[in-house]
Amino acid sequence: MCGISGIISSADVSGKLVESLRNLEYRGYDSCGIALLNGAGATVRKNIGYVADVAEKELFTDVKGRVGIAHTRWATHGKVTSGNAHPHLCCGGKTAVVHNGIITNYRKLKSDLIRKKHSFKSETDSEVVAHLIEENLKGGGSLEAAFIKALRMLEGSFAVAMISPGEPEKIFCGRNESPLILGLGENENYIGSDFNAFVEYTRNAVVLEDGEYAVVSREGYEIRRIGDLEPIERDILRIEWDVETARKGGYPHYMLKEIHEQPSTIGQVLEIPEEHIREMAEKMLSARNLFLMGVGTTYYSAMMGQYYFSSIAGIPAYALSSDEAPESASIGRNDLVLAVSQSGETYDTLRALKTAVKNGARTAAIVNVIGSSMARMAESVIMQGSGPEICVVSTKAATSQMLTLMRLALEVGALNGAIKPARKKALIEKLNGLPSVISDFLNEYSGFARSLAQRHAGHDSWLYLGRGVYYPVALESALKVKEVAYQHAEGMPAGFLKHGTIALIDDKIRSMVFFPPQAEKELFKTTVSAVEEIKARGGKVVAFHSSKSLANSGLLDDQLLLPKAHPFIAPIVSIVAAQLYAYFTATALGRNVDKPRALAKSVTVA
Ligand code: F6R
Repeated sequence: MCGISGIISSADVSGKLVESLRNLEYRGYDSCGIALLNGAGATVRKNIGYVADVAEKELFTDVKGRVGIAHTRWATHGKVTSGNAHPHLCCGGKTAVVHNGIITNYRKLKSDLIRKKHSFKSETDSEVVAHLIEENLKGGGSLEAAFIKALRMLEGSFAVAMISPGEPEKIFCGRNESPLILGLGENENYIGSDFNAFVEYTRNAVVLEDGEYAVVSREGYEIRRIGDLEPIERDILRIEWDVETARKGGYPHYMLKEIHEQPSTIGQVLEIPEEHIREMAEKMLSARNLFLMGVGTTYYSAMMGQYYFSSIAGIPAYALSSDEAPESASIGRNDLVLAVSQSGETYDTLRALKTAVKNGARTAAIVNVIGSSMARMAESVIMQGSGPEICVVSTKAATSQMLTLMRLALEVGALNGAIKPARKKALIEKLNGLPSVISDFLNEYSGFARSLAQRHAGHDSWLYLGRGVYYPVALESALKVKEVAYQHAEGMPAGFLKHGTIALIDDKIRSMVFFPPQAEKELFKTTVSAVEEIKARGGKVVAFHSSKSLANSGLLDDQLLLPKAHPFIAPIVSIVAAQLYAYFTATALGRNVDKPRALAKSVTVA
């Protein structure tokens, strides 16, 4: 939800901390701050706003120090105010703390501390940590002991980092259910809530597990368990992402850059070794029930998977929205739960996965972020390899998840005999051709998507409709315009419309209809029927389709004529087209595309 960074060096770290905050801003961006040790206490500068603005206004780089922590916030407890921004200080102004997660017992801790004469300056749960450390120090003992004691008192989720002039050559940090990673440099070390905090400075990282803390110095680090202080040895992880990949590379927005990266990110999925796909497919096949879980876009990726498993592999794969999964489905022994997640940290999906583990189910995951909680928790993992997705809205990560599920459906279908080897081979060839289909589409059709978006940007109430696999296509496409353009867009099955929602149709609400290729005769025909029902009630219809005869039929009010694609891969072309449409609608409306209001990249709270 928020971003944490920390650097300890032999030179001033303020400039690097600001850079690091910029790279973490996608995790949350309503306010930010830094704390540096440079004398008697910790100097804190913070305010509300984007990193670049706050850093300039608060003169972050004028504060000098060789040890510092920083934070970019996405509010959970307490309003968006300068006081609620991190870092937080204890009463004596010495101990500075940044925190991600939610401390569920903070009210009780806070009232105990107030009774002991601590005074609080913010409404956050996080500030209690600074005061707890200060309180624990009153009994004598080391700063480290006071820090550990404070961590042991916390309930809920946390990634915490702390600096104090009592130990001016160290950064203390610890985690429970919120990610925290150490970065190892040359005579300079780092901490971060993810790799982006320090990927510009080092590629070597060590992941902290739940219930562990670390003491980081310039020369090294020590990890121990918070519970029994047992020292931990952990392998160093090499991050393969390059810095440039995480930058915009000439595009005006990360969203557009990431849309254009899809030929290559889809290519990455096609490179995943077949044995790896088969291993996961065998597990899927031997499961009693197969559940595909995600939330938001990843739920729609899972739904796409459900349709492909049904049509290609002939087996049910139940897509569940992970925020509801533990309550809506009884999942137990011999079931397999496959979590789909870009970040691998999303609270709802992590909770669903944990519930599955508790109930004795088997677990698997499709994840983008190496070393993330889900990547480590699931028994079998496929890393989708999409590289960092910086725009808050998911594009390239989503299509890679869909592709991975398509490959899995093909493999399961081949294993259980639902498809013959020749058909599998033919469909794999279609998949292999997808990067160039998408690349041609982006090169040749972007202008059409842009003009369509500009013609319709002024209409802010939409129904997004599709049948079969085009139903999740419609849902995902509607989510994209909701997120970036702030338009009301309700996704639903085109066949569902006549069961109630059709009462809404008039000349003000527009319908966006997603068609299959005309070769899918039945699906195509019934989608046409839905359009006719809307037109008969005076509704206006815009469609994404690839049929010349439909284009000339006069039935549609406007359209994006897509290139012809094989029915197996055509839904992905529609998804990419809808991403572009949402992007151009948002830019036509002057929206903040990469950081839409109220959203955060990684939602790690309930
Ligand atoms: C939409 C979007 C979100 C995420 C959802 C899950 O564009 O990005 O709906 O898909 O929050 O996040 P991850 O994939 O990180 O688990």
